[in-house]
Amino acid sequence: MAIWNLGSINLDMIYSLPHMPAAGETLAAQNFSRFLGGKGANMSVAAQRAGSVVHHIGGVGPDGDWAYDRLASFDVDTAHVARSETVTGHAIIAVEPGGENQIILYPGANRALQEVDLKQALSMAGPGDTFICQNETNLQSEAVGYAREKGMRVCYAAAPFEAEAVAAVLTNLDFLILNEIEAQQLEASTGKAPDALGVDDVIITLGSKGARHIKGASGTVRDVPAHAVTAVDTTGAGDTFTGYVLAGLDQGLSMEEAMAQASVAGALMVMRHGTADVIPTLDEVNKAKL
Ligand code: RIB
Ligand code: NA
Repeated sequence: MAIWNLGSINLDMIYSLPHMPAAGETLAAQNFSRFLGGKGANMSVAAQRAGSVVHHIGGVGPDGDWAYDRLASFDVDTAHVARSETVTGHAIIAVEPGGENQIILYPGANRALQEVDLKQALSMAGPGDTFICQNETNLQSEAVGYAREKGMRVCYAAAPFEAEAVAAVLTNLDFLILNEIEAQQLEASTGKAPDALGVDDVIITLGSKGARHIKGASGTVRDVPAHAVTAVDTTGAGDTFTGYVLAGLDQGLSMEEAMAQASVAGALMVMRHGTADVIPTLDEVNKAKL
């Protein structure tokens, strides 16, 4: 089966800083690198590296050749990545010692996607395929509707959190993944706990505390611990976890097995500077001694 990802493609400019700048402060970075990123592209690369066939639906602008080529170089299908006149999405990412980040995101071409292109792309998907989207593009609710009609497994990563965007897709989801802060935001905006929303599978990622899977119907909770590692850059670790979980399920692993593999991939990712370009391969995950 395949994974279809409606997702952002960003140029990530990552700066290592001695500390986060205060208001009015000018601060020199100790290191700078450019990576392929975007929560969407990160998930696509992760799922591909975890062994799945991945079709990316998205868009870049006139300045997007590099990002487009990078994504294609990972053997992610880019046939449904559109070109628009809008500047390619980009993110300015500050990382402090210990690996925590702050991100300034400009969505650009990621939010200029056309419904006709989306519809055309998903017309090629079918039952048993997985659909995933996040909140850095437009057309999420339309896409979730088409994916549902197609009989796909409909997954959604509520990142970055937007109450309206989440509310628009909630009734059509099989699978919801979000971090602790997003889970609190969701609860505040809906008045219900994430596992009381009628979604079959909910995963809440808890950073260094691991991840929790809640089976919607039964409420059964399963915790997967995180591996204790020294973090240098947490950017993209959550996206990597999500991509690996979806790929594991796509390839027939149990939720527990998929989460265990994803947790190793996420741990490796926080030990590395950067985003999509440095997402670990399945071979690296299998050989990792954490
Ligand atoms: O989750 C990390 C991602 O968020 C980065 O790659 C950046 O592009 C932003 O989308
Ligand atoms: Na990283």
